[in-house]
Amino acid sequence: MKTAFTELLGIDAPIVLAPMGGAVTSDFAAAVSNAGGIGMLAVSWNSPEAVGEIVTEMKALTNAPFGVNLIREWDQRERLASALQAGAPVISLFWGDPAELVQEAHDGGALVFVTVASADEAERAVAAGADVIVAQGWEAGGHVRGTVTTLALVPRVVDAVTPVPVVAAGGIADGRGVAAVLALGASGAWIGTRFLAAQEAPIHDDYRQRLFDAVETDTYYGTLFDVGWPDAPHRALRNTTVEAWEAAGRPEPGVRPGEADDVAARADGSPIKRYVSSTPHSSMTGDVETMPNWAGQGVGLVTHAQPAAEIVRELVADAERILAPPA
Ligand SMILES: Cc1cc2nc3c(=O)[nH]c(=O)nc-3n(C[C@H](O)[C@H](O)[C@H](O)COP(=O)(O)O)c2cc1C
Repeated sequence: MKTAFTELLGIDAPIVLAPMGGAVTSDFAAAVSNAGGIGMLAVSWNSPEAVGEIVTEMKALTNAPFGVNLIREWDQRERLASALQAGAPVISLFWGDPAELVQEAHDGGALVFVTVASADEAERAVAAGADVIVAQGWEAGGHVRGTVTTLALVPRVVDAVTPVPVVAAGGIADGRGVAAVLALGASGAWIGTRFLAAQEAPIHDDYRQRLFDAVETDTYYGTLFDVGWPDAPHRALRNTTVEAWEAAGRPEPGVRPGEADDVAARADGSPIKRYVSSTPHSSMTGDVETMPNWAGQGVGLVTHAQPAAEIVRELVADAERILAPPA
């Protein structure tokens, strides 16, 4: 399937494994890149040394392009330098002003993707040198940049930045969604929640099962899981933490129910407190239901585990069938 995005990247499928902190390994991202899409690594919290190692590992797993995502809430200069030095072909920037890092990424030989949530923000990103714009709609899982839905956002961003390729994100969970955003003028689909169903996704089994059981009305949007990343709106499955907080009258941080609770633990035994912004990983123990089980509104379409490559093939085949001219 050829689009402006696939042509720019030299790939076969306009499908992006969205960067998902704590939910993407190099094996997982490489599986998507090797299937013709592009896998994005989320390394915003790794040490700069680890970033270099992960990129080197990726290059051993695939000859196809892949990306490294950095969230501008934190200083990312050292991680960026390390990713570029190891040869990352794509850098993706989320949250905050990308301008400071774009030139350095270009100087290091990488293409730069910038995630935006309005046409205005898209224009500024292009002026700063972005090669691809990712338009993230409000339906999205995880941290959500703006409040405009994908259907309304994507054509506005396309009109604002053409001929720069636009990749749509938020709520795309099957071939119908891929076909829809291509019809809106996007040239790729950036998919998170659906890919959490991939067998390669290193998420906790309880979290995965909750994704399969959830429907489109089951998500929470707000700033509740703010420990470690305050004032940053996000979308996750409604859970007992959300319900207890709502039942208490939605109190402010500092007086929320169970703030001192250790609800789960990391593999090294370190405790995870309620309201911490962390992804339930397969190595964690405890009551991960209480943690942010990140999910977008497309979650109702996520029903069963599959290999990542099969998800890529299915998305493309279904989108092609829908978009094919009538015989
Ligand atoms: C578990 C999870 C973790 C995420 N972590 C990141 C991240 O580290 N960096 C980033 O730019 N976006 C992150 N996102 C947002 C995704 O990249 C993407 O925009 C979103 O998943 C798209 O919406 P969808 O889930 O409806 O497909 C995350 C999303 C999820 C579900």
